[in-house]
Amino acid sequence: MAEHRKSARSASRQKAEKAHQTEALSFDFVIVGATGDLTMRKLLPAFYQRFRHGQIAATTKIIGVARSDLTVDAYRQRTVEAFREFIAPEDYDEAQATAFLQLVYYVPLDMSDKEADWNPLASQLGTEKERSRVFYVATAPRLYAQTADAIAHNGLITDTTRIVLEKPIGTDLASATAINDGVGRHFREDQIFRIDHYLGKQTVQNILALRFANPILERLWNADSIAHVRITAAETVGVGKRGPYYDTAGALRDMVQNHLLQVLSVLAMEPPPSLSATDLRDEKLKILRALRPMTHHMVHRDTVRAQYGAGMVGGKAVPGYLEDLGSDASSTETYLAIRAEIRTARWAGVPFYIRTGKRMARKETTIVVQFRPQPWAIFEGPIEPGELTIRLQPDEGVSLSLASKYPSEEGFRLKEADLNVNYAEAFKTRYPDSYEDLLMAAVRGDQVLFIRRDEVEAAWQWIEPILDGWAADARPLETYPAGSWGPESAEKLLERDGFSWKEKNQ
Ligand SMILES: NC(=O)c1ccc[n+]([C@@H]2O[C@H](COP(=O)([O-])OP(=O)(O)OC[C@H]3O[C@@H](n4cnc5c(N)ncnc54)[C@H](OP(=O)(O)O)[C@@H]3O)[C@@H](O)[C@H]2O)c1
Repeated sequence: MAEHRKSARSASRQKAEKAHQTEALSFDFVIVGATGDLTMRKLLPAFYQRFRHGQIAATTKIIGVARSDLTVDAYRQRTVEAFREFIAPEDYDEAQATAFLQLVYYVPLDMSDKEADWNPLASQLGTEKERSRVFYVATAPRLYAQTADAIAHNGLITDTTRIVLEKPIGTDLASATAINDGVGRHFREDQIFRIDHYLGKQTVQNILALRFANPILERLWNADSIAHVRITAAETVGVGKRGPYYDTAGALRDMVQNHLLQVLSVLAMEPPPSLSATDLRDEKLKILRALRPMTHHMVHRDTVRAQYGAGMVGGKAVPGYLEDLGSDASSTETYLAIRAEIRTARWAGVPFYIRTGKRMARKETTIVVQFRPQPWAIFEGPIEPGELTIRLQPDEGVSLSLASKYPSEEGFRLKEADLNVNYAEAFKTRYPDSYEDLLMAAVRGDQVLFIRRDEVEAAWQWIEPILDGWAADARPLETYPAGSWGPESAEKLLERDGFSWKEKNQ
């Protein structure tokens, strides 16, 4: 009987999930910044995928807006060219792409021109009360508030209108507050969707499943069992064409203030009462607020910053940052390592180490949770403490290292062996790009994967003293050879606590 109820429940859940996945939504989606890199490389390909999977109705309109004087046909042609460049051949279907293009429109408009005529855009938008309308602002952040002003001034905000803001929200607390105030003058907080595309990653969302659907892990998820946590986001690429932008930002603003603090807060938060946007974001916020504020002394002791020099990446000689930038001098960090602490009962005494860098030895985003060692050993020789490794990308998966008896007749020798799950192999399914999830969530009005105003501001509050500390620090910026794992001092940061960045079995 119980089995019967269980299978009926599971069948109805599968049916509900299928309906959720295949429901075709009809909406108006305005992309401001429609000729830019993000739109062409990520947003339009993501919409194409959702269309191909039956989630977007033929009555939907995706309306590109930018200053460039393009016809709708010319914009559709650019879209096709972007598809050919950025969509994997196995995911691309010419007939589906042609059908999708019929939903794509273009209106030239300048967001900084107060006199601009918005009627051509307004006349494209549906008037049904229920129809979801989204403005996705994919321009430089200095245009966010102006864009919100213009949308409001032209009377285009309905009850079901949302605005999506790309990162970065500001370059410090004051500029973030100014953007939030400017947009907040016209849009309610439940209409504002701040993107952090890391939250759109299936593997970041999977941290919730790992922790809160597996009591075997959650019961160990605290300072009693965990010695430390290491978060690494390493890229092999340099700054490329983004040099002029990157030089004004650096790794702390570009990666930590948003993506890596979000990962850290999902890793460390208390179980929320539900998966609602409010409950989840309340818990993440508590972690951001519980980060121990950095004094100048702590910045000096607990952070490392460096810039890549020339080196070898993937067997190829590559130039250093200054040469990439075309400049003689820059104090922008392309690498950093930070030792952070969370002031809660769950995490007292557990360091969280964060490192990120460009031109590193390997592309990977991983979280390593190291468990405390066995307090009393009956075996001879050292036992490596167990580690749970969560691979966010590439090779998405999770592994747990276990001390095991090495098969031999010569006594009891221990060696590490891994329990390893590769999600692509386990589920035999394609990994959707993070923007696919995020765009459709914005259309549905579901804020769970977006950042609330107080989270952005709390993150800046923790980041700002680090920026100030670095500005006051007389030490010269360190360098590291391209293709390495960063400067020696980053290893020393962990050695001091008896830990290492080095993976086991290395
Ligand atoms: N590219 C990425 O991978 C990426 C990743 C994460 C976040 N972001 C963020 O997303 C935003 C866009 O990045 P992007 O790389 O796509 O930049 P981009 O390539 O420079 O594109 C900027 C877009 O804004 C338009 N634009 C500029 N001024 C305008 C104005 N006054 N009125 C209307 N449109 C205007 C440009 O077109 P016209 O010149 O034709 O007006 C272009 O379409 C930035 O905030 C960036 O930080 C980008």
